[in-house]
Order: sequence, then structure tokens, then C-alpha cells
Amino acid sequence: MSYNTGMAKERIISPQASDTRDEMLSISLRPARLSEYVGQAKLIEKLSITLAAVRQRHEPMEHVLLHGPPGLGKTTLAHIIAGEMSARLVVTSGPALSRPGDLVGTLTNLGDGDVLFIDEIHRLPAVVEEYIYPAMEDFKIDVTVDSGMHARTITMPLRPFTLIGATTRAGLITGPLRSRFGITHNLDFYGTEDLLKILGRSAEVMRIPQAAQGSHAREASLEMIARRSRGTPRIANRLLRRVRDFAQVRGDGQLDPDLTDIALRLEGVDTLGLDELDRKYLGVIASVYQGGPVGLEAVAATLSEDAATLEDVVEPYLLQIGFLARTRRGRQLTHAAAEHLGLRLPPRLADEDDQPELFTSPQG
Ligand SMILES: Nc1ncnc2c1ncn2[C@@H]1O[C@H](COP(=O)(O)OP(=O)(O)OP(=O)(O)O)[C@@H](O)[C@H]1O
Ligand SMILES: [Mg+2]
Repeated sequence: MSYNTGMAKERIISPQASDTRDEMLSISLRPARLSEYVGQAKLIEKLSITLAAVRQRHEPMEHVLLHGPPGLGKTTLAHIIAGEMSARLVVTSGPALSRPGDLVGTLTNLGDGDVLFIDEIHRLPAVVEEYIYPAMEDFKIDVTVDSGMHARTITMPLRPFTLIGATTRAGLITGPLRSRFGITHNLDFYGTEDLLKILGRSAEVMRIPQAAQGSHAREASLEMIARRSRGTPRIANRLLRRVRDFAQVRGDGQLDPDLTDIALRLEGVDTLGLDELDRKYLGVIASVYQGGPVGLEAVAATLSEDAATLEDVVEPYLLQIGFLARTRRGRQLTHAAAEHLGLRLPPRLADEDDQPELFTSPQG
């Protein structure tokens, strides 16, 4: 993912992979088989049925479109699907396919049954996208050679392949492209139990020691991390690494809840898993825009953040936990958000929704 923004990149809570070291560690924490993939039960069931059927028929699998906020496991799933089909995975992204020639080259190099993964598929330019339609439907591609009077179109056959598209922005996928995917699925945020399972596996992979027999200290710590991971496996794994570092330097390397709490607070993560940027975002709407409704662009400008980053990385979880409402007139804070932030509501207005002056901050 490439966001040109300052704070969101560095914040520990960012669901985006922040550097190569983090990415390397995430790769080792990545499940390799469908059976190891935690959560997203509906999608996993759909996929395992389709996979079993196409394996029997010795056919490539239908094209799959995955959308959802960053860090929920789209790339992981693409690797798993290719693995389950014993197929080669070819990875590229919307921005990397900037000219039709890039796509033609990629497609014609695919082998029989290969899986092509296009990340950030919403960033595929329109001129490139047109070439992908016949490729997806009929495994052929129309290429124009020469120009002007001599221009002619030749049709090149492609070997059967499976396209997996991933996007954080389902809304930006055009109708014609979307309709060519056999399976389209929106990934949901993970519940605490699923995150706990993911963390349990990660703790094993990272060889974090169990405390003494019968002690639940590690389990309790992992649960605390799970609850503060904004429903996102990537954040859960990243917080676990920070807590492990803290436990190693400040303790004896074992996880316990007190230490975990201190480590998470040190990272600016609060009891709900919100970080500095989340709180700033909510704070700006509360204090500068009286709780909203306010346009995203205005909030982004006030925060000096990129609107797309806020929309992809900050807002989905705040919407999910009911801290934010998206109305026709803009973003609006909810009572739950005000309570969490410790903002006072004028008693007269506290029960009425959609009031322009719903919030006053404690300072004034
Ligand atoms: N269902 C899962 N079970 C176990 N671990 C998971 C699961 N989903 C994601 N993870 C972990 O979270 C990390 C991030 O997942 P992944 O890279 O697949 O996210 P993504 O949706 O592709 O994000 P982005 O939109 O930023 O590319 C993985 O390295 C993996 O360790
Ligand atoms: Mg990814």
C-alpha cells in the first residue's frame, strides 16, 4: 500500500505494513493452508467448496475479488488459494500495471493454472482495465499492432489462470470489472476470539515462553492484546511483537497483563485499541466541528492527513464500533465516542441526534 502521509505510516496501530522487517516477520506468521486460516468462516466455506470442486475437475478456480480494510488477510488468502491449488502465485498491483503493455506482458507470461494476484486492483488505469475483460472471460487478449492505417488487432490466446483481485476500496471498482469475478467477498473485522487464536499461533511461532504451569498470565496478556487490536490481525501481531520486546527488556521475557498494559499504553494504544491518530480524528470532529456533521476533506485538512488514508485506515473501525456515523451531510460523532473521549454533552441535547452543536469539550 502506498499512502503519502506522515503519521499514519509510523503509528504502531497502522494496519499497513510499515517496513520490510515487519513484513518479513508477518510472512513467517502467515498461515499457509486454508485449515490454518482463522475466522472469515463464510468466505472460507465458499472457497473450500469451490477449491474441492475445481480440483476434481482439474480446472483453474473462478476469479476472486477480496475487499476490506488493510491488514485483514487478503494477501494471505491469495497465497493460501494458490497453495491449495498447488499453483504458482504471480503477484502484481494496480499501480504497477500502468500501461496496457505491462498487463499484456504479465498475462502472456502466465503458465497453465497460475494464480495472478493483483493488489490494489482499484488503481488499475481504465485503459489497462479494458484489456483484462476478455482475458478473464475467455482467456484471450486483443492486442493492437502498428498504428494509423496499418493498425490491426490480433487476438492472443492465454493459458487458463485464476485472477485474485484485492482492494481496500470496493466502491472504486467499476461494474464491468466487478461482474467478471465469480466470487466477491468483503472481509470483516475479526472478533476477540479469532484474534486470540491468531495471537496464540503467533506466540508459538515467536517462541514466547509460557509462564509457570497453571498460570494464565500469557493467555490473559494475549487476550488484552486481542481486545486492543482494532479487529485486525496485522495490528494484533504487531502489538504482540512490541509487548514481547517490552517484556524482554523490562521483565523476564514472559507476558503478564500488568506489563502488557504498560507496554500498550506506552505505544499510545488505549483500552479500545484506539491510537493517537484515531483520538485526534475524533477530537477534531468534536472540538473543531462541534461533533459534525463535517466533510472528510475538512477533517483531513485540519489534521494535515491524507483523506484517502483516513477513509481506509481510520474510519472503518470507528464506524464498526459505532463511534462514527456517515450521514449525507458528512461525518458525525456518536454519543459512545463522546463518552469514550470524556467529552461532555450538553444535557439538553444529549438525547437528540443530529444536532449541530452536540458537543462541548471539557476545556470550554
Ligand atoms: N485469518 C488469519 N489468520 C491468521 N493470520 C492472519 C489472518 N489474516 C491475516 N493474518 C495475519 O495478518 C497479516 C496481514 O495480513 P495480510 O497481509 O494478508 O493483509 P491484507 O488484507 O493483504 O492487507 P493490505 O490491504 O494492507 O494488503 C499476515 O501477515 C498474517 O500474519
Ligand atoms: Mg495485502
